[in-house]
Amino acid sequence: MAAAAYEAVPVAEDVYWVGAVDWELRNFHGYSTHRGSTYNAYLILDEKVTLVDTVKRPFFPVMMERIASVVDPGAVRYVISNHAEMDHSGSLSDFVSSARPERILASARGVEALRDHFHWSVEVEAVAEGTRLSLGRLSLSFFEASMLHWPESMFTYLPERRLLFSQDAFGMHLATRNLFWDENDPAILRWEAAAYYANILMPYSRLVTRKLEQIKGLGVELIAPDHGPVWRDEGVGRILEWYRRWSSRQVREAATVVYDTMWGSTARMADAIVDGLSGGGLEVEVCPLAGSDRSDVATACVEAAALVVGSPTLNGGVFPRIADVLSYLEGLKPPVRVGAAFGSYGWAEGATGQIGASLERMGVRVVGSPLTLRYVPGPEGLAQCVQFGRKLAGEVKKELDEGR
Ligand code: FEO
Repeated sequence: MAAAAYEAVPVAEDVYWVGAVDWELRNFHGYSTHRGSTYNAYLILDEKVTLVDTVKRPFFPVMMERIASVVDPGAVRYVISNHAEMDHSGSLSDFVSSARPERILASARGVEALRDHFHWSVEVEAVAEGTRLSLGRLSLSFFEASMLHWPESMFTYLPERRLLFSQDAFGMHLATRNLFWDENDPAILRWEAAAYYANILMPYSRLVTRKLEQIKGLGVELIAPDHGPVWRDEGVGRILEWYRRWSSRQVREAATVVYDTMWGSTARMADAIVDGLSGGGLEVEVCPLAGSDRSDVATACVEAAALVVGSPTLNGGVFPRIADVLSYLEGLKPPVRVGAAFGSYGWAEGATGQIGASLERMGVRVVGSPLTLRYVPGPEGLAQCVQFGRKLAGEVKKELDEGR
């Protein structure tokens, strides 16, 4: 066999990673992926050679070459499609045409989703929750994982290796050739896992909690998601604990301050409010929209008790980038408990009312009156901002104390 540029990487005995690294991805349906991503596909070598998920379509040749480094792709007999979203099913049609596997399996909803993506005549078998499929020496069982990330999502478990193929769940958008979590920077892993949870799974936290209960009974020793590194050893406990925390919507004594500014006045207000929040004992993450975007704000909100939003008034309403962030957060419904609005204006104020209404739609309790200042804040206005932050910090602490 000729040497391959792309090779399969061992994950466990008889199991290989045959995915692709996308160093260039910077946007995943509106979520900024600052560090690219991977599309993980896995190959199981047994009597029935099995491929679990595929890769985004442009990476099909890379996947094929990795498969070919350990087995003739034509020897693949079963394909499992855990998730129909095109970053994982994009190469399925090409693979089926090229390798002609005996069986393609997906959840019942997955069968429909694949049909509606490919409009093909290929038969895809539906596997029910708990179905066991023999591959020879090894076997697979299937668990529904609805809304983690789409309604048709499912998990596939390889009990002989205690290995869970979890598709989107427990993944992250991180381009890396270091396949295992412990070969990567732990701070980056924590941030990217939180970003992934916030931007993809946060609205489905109740379902995540339920799925974690089910996983607990399996004795999983390896988690192989469809994006980012594979979790092994104590990494399994680590990612499960992060997910337990995020899905339970626990928050810390922390505030996210997000703002945009026209001539710097709302920025000066934000700076003084941050002083007040910080002086009041809160950890503060500041997201100026000149340098952050909607998905960074969502990530900052994954454990924050407070969300403070500032916008100048433009044409009677909020600045465009603030509107974008608010609309995005309304869909994600972060666990934030307490919210507040502020901003500068010229001749008529209108932004803070819109912010307050949006916070309420997210399920956030808006405390106090919004703080608005006309034109440029002077020393008195800035002192008001510091006080505003201090008072809000007090409200946050009170809210958390009452919940304890
Ligand atoms: Fe990685 Fe929901 O796709």
